[in-house]
Amino acid sequence: ERVEGKMDNLDSLSRDLRTEIERLDELFWVSGETLKAISKRFQEELDEGLQENGRNIAMYLTWVLGFPTGHERGAFLALDLGGTNIRVCWIELAERKGETKVMQSQYKIPDDLKTGSADQLWNFVAESLEKFTKEQGLNGSENEPLPLGFTFSYPAIQDYIDHGVLQTWTKGFDIDGVEGQDVAEQVQEAIAKRKLPIRLIALINDTTGALIASAYNDPDTIVGAIFGTGCNAAYMEQCSSIPKLKSHDQAKDLPSDTRMAINCEYGAFDNSHSILPRTPYDETVDEQSPRPGEQTFEKMSAGLYLGEIFRLILLELHSKGLIFPDQTNLSYLQSSYSIDTGVLSFVENDDSADMGDTKNRFRREFNITPSHSDLRAMKHIAITVAVRGARLCACGVAAICRKSGIQKGHVAADGSVANKHPKFRRRWGQALGEILDWKEDREDDPIVLTSAEDGSGIGAAVITAMTLERAEKGQM
Ligand code: GLC
Repeated sequence: ERVEGKMDNLDSLSRDLRTEIERLDELFWVSGETLKAISKRFQEELDEGLQENGRNIAMYLTWVLGFPTGHERGAFLALDLGGTNIRVCWIELAERKGETKVMQSQYKIPDDLKTGSADQLWNFVAESLEKFTKEQGLNGSENEPLPLGFTFSYPAIQDYIDHGVLQTWTKGFDIDGVEGQDVAEQVQEAIAKRKLPIRLIALINDTTGALIASAYNDPDTIVGAIFGTGCNAAYMEQCSSIPKLKSHDQAKDLPSDTRMAINCEYGAFDNSHSILPRTPYDETVDEQSPRPGEQTFEKMSAGLYLGEIFRLILLELHSKGLIFPDQTNLSYLQSSYSIDTGVLSFVENDDSADMGDTKNRFRREFNITPSHSDLRAMKHIAITVAVRGARLCACGVAAICRKSGIQKGHVAADGSVANKHPKFRRRWGQALGEILDWKEDREDDPIVLTSAEDGSGIGAAVITAMTLERAEKGQM
């Protein structure tokens, strides 16, 4: 079904509103054929990224060499800087599955920090580490510092595993003095200032963390993906198929069958605007973001932006007099990013009588009392935006699978869109099948979305363990 879930007939709406909604349907619908074309171009950009001078998709080297054995052991600190919160964990990887212990605390990142300075950011990070280690009574020493795995979910070029130069902030962050700098060094300096006995061992991306944490328990894992505030994926590549590795001296002695996890950073797909069917709403989202021209794919498909696209559409319909006609105070709706993807999912999945739940929520949170017609229109549009997002999300994973010749396995996914949008999984699977020409009457999908294990916790710990093990053996 092309616009599934939209069986509610639109007959009761005014003719003009109906016409607008049908226009939006056309504008946002991505056909199977278009998905295929997008995925083909996606695959080309993945290939280009592995070359010395790729553009758009960066395909960052992670220096995570191969999958874990599942026998990695030890106790580690993990630090997660993702978007909304900072999370600090103490993780003891246990001999028996299910006995791994995790202790953790979250610290909300104050909003002004997201547009503040590097010093403020790292000071906050170090302070969180200090609080946590004190609370938990974790005592490292100068000789035996606590080993730390740091999940930093932004694009960083890594020359080795405890190094990473931030290329550009994404997901609305805009902190001065970090872009172009080694974040591993910056965090280590902040730790030193407070004299904390902690040593950074590995810097990782959240996608790499999801890949490794999931593979630690599930050998069928092929991709680690985040469908959340941002959107991105990591997979394992043969070193011999990574041309740009040649310019790294330290990679010369790796055995020929070595594999390395690649952080695709595919939110930047099609930054050169050659294939994605962008709408005027996507253009507005981009223009009003702190980094226009960047993360083109992410801005059409990730959680941070879906609610914003929905909001822009509502405002436009209002300005045409088609929805909320008698509402005089739309100030809340007029502020950017006031509708998040949670609201979008809520509207779409509201099965209460006459959508009373949505009505109440909008009254409470947005100071708007939607009419019956407004509510129907909102639901329809929420679906339109979410369906496009899910279908586009399938293009990236399809491209990775095609490129690597992978025909079956688990895509370990994390993030608010994957976890909190009940219909995402099915829509994504449907689109993947259209791209990869799966038979309509198949019994099971050969490639399925699974829930990733905790990447920035367990994943960071396992990668730290792998790194220390290699170092002990004198390997890179
Ligand atoms: C953004 C970041 C990327 C991260 C993704 C998911 O795309 O640039 O590093 O993996 O969001 O959090």
